[in-house]
Amino acid sequence: MGITATRWSLGIGALGVGSLGLIAVLGTACSKDEPKPAPEPKQPATKAQPAATTAASAPAAAAAAVPAPPKSLGALKIPKDNPLTAAKVALGQKLFFDKRLSVDGSRACYSCHQNEDGTGGHEPTAIGAKDVKLTRHAPAMWNVAYLPRLYWDGRADSLEAQAKGAWAGGNMGVGADNLTKKADELYALPEYTALFDAAFPGEGGTVATVTQAIASYERTLFCGDTAYDKFAAGDTSALNEEQKKGWELFTGKANCHSCHTPPFFSDAFMAEQGAYHNIGMGLEGTAPDKVDPGRQAISKVESDQSAFKTPSLRNVTRTAPYFHDGSVAKLEDAVAFMAKGGFKNEHLDPKLVDKKLAPEELKAIVAFLGALECDGKLEPPAN
Ligand code: HEC
Ligand code: HEC
Repeated sequence: MGITATRWSLGIGALGVGSLGLIAVLGTACSKDEPKPAPEPKQPATKAQPAATTAASAPAAAAAAVPAPPKSLGALKIPKDNPLTAAKVALGQKLFFDKRLSVDGSRACYSCHQNEDGTGGHEPTAIGAKDVKLTRHAPAMWNVAYLPRLYWDGRADSLEAQAKGAWAGGNMGVGADNLTKKADELYALPEYTALFDAAFPGEGGTVATVTQAIASYERTLFCGDTAYDKFAAGDTSALNEEQKKGWELFTGKANCHSCHTPPFFSDAFMAEQGAYHNIGMGLEGTAPDKVDPGRQAISKVESDQSAFKTPSLRNVTRTAPYFHDGSVAKLEDAVAFMAKGGFKNEHLDPKLVDKKLAPEELKAIVAFLGALECDGKLEPPAN
């Protein structure tokens, strides 16, 4: 864990502190060789959501408005039993960065979802509290608010449930039976009491309030204002020629968009149960008893064997290593694997066939993926 620990402190130190509004959608993208189009705000940044009105009674730190979701991604569904408020977001942000949530004080949520790794994992497969090696790679946090099902196999049906899973399970190692005690301890810390009271008046620190606050924070992490989004909104100068060629291939001959469907660049955001495909990743040279069953373990449907949730490709240039097992270090190699039709096996998705792309075509697709970069950062809390 040495490397990660160092990166962690560097990360915090280098970041500085910003207002809540800065957390999200600063995604001024980065088509390096193009003149930037005149900055034109795509959305009324000041428009607070109706649910944010309780912020008036919250401490100053929480007084900022809840960032509105980017227009390019559409409206966000907020669960009725957890209205989004600035006070919850402020509490959730602090909890997300706090290692005291874990059983041994070694891991915050942020430990495995750091800015340096595009908010996905650093190691190929994550290393949990007490240095337990886990079996999968940590996905990025951008736009998770829009996912109807969380995890590579879709086993959690809300961010609240996912946060509870991460907190109790191998990631943070607290154990389901000890969560209530942990929540009490957090609430008792002087720096937390007022934050909990502002976000959840009269409720204190409970498993529900901790996970609802973390989920609320996650509902502000957007990647929705990229060069591609400008292009999609009609600004043809937002992509360079190579990126335009890549976009044509992506949605044409290479057929990537049939699974990595815009605007999320994943079909998993658009179906109630999520969307899972077997691409054969992790099967080559793996003994049958060591194979990750993926979605099949949840759905019990045979054809879901080793099928995984389609990851979003937003910000993918920054989230190496790739795939559910983090086994591919370079984006070029990940794209080449997909374009060749994945790894042949009994359950391979029929959409995956060798697209016979020339090297310059693969390069153009990688260039296009650069148009999905967003500059947002997870901001550590002010104190
Ligand atoms: C030890 C590393 C680690 C820690 C700590 C950790 N995570 Fe994760 N996270 C992962 C891994 C690995 C996965 C994927 C697991 C799977 O799919 O089976 C994941 C998945 C997720 C997902 C699902 C994303 C998606 O695309 O489906 C969310 C959201 C998330 N984590 C948030 C959190 C929160 C909130 C916390 C703190 C309560 C947390 N993580 C702590 C490693 C970690
Ligand atoms: C049949 C659906 C499908 C098609 C078609 C498809 N993909 Fe994927 N892609 C997936 C799934 C599912 C995964 C994750 C699978 C895993 O990790 O085991 C994935 C993973 C990836 C990743 C790794 C992302 C990450 O964050 O780990 C990249 C990059 C990628 N695909 C690019 C492409 C490109 C480029 C094309 C077109 C040449 C393409 N894909 C076509 C379903 C698809």
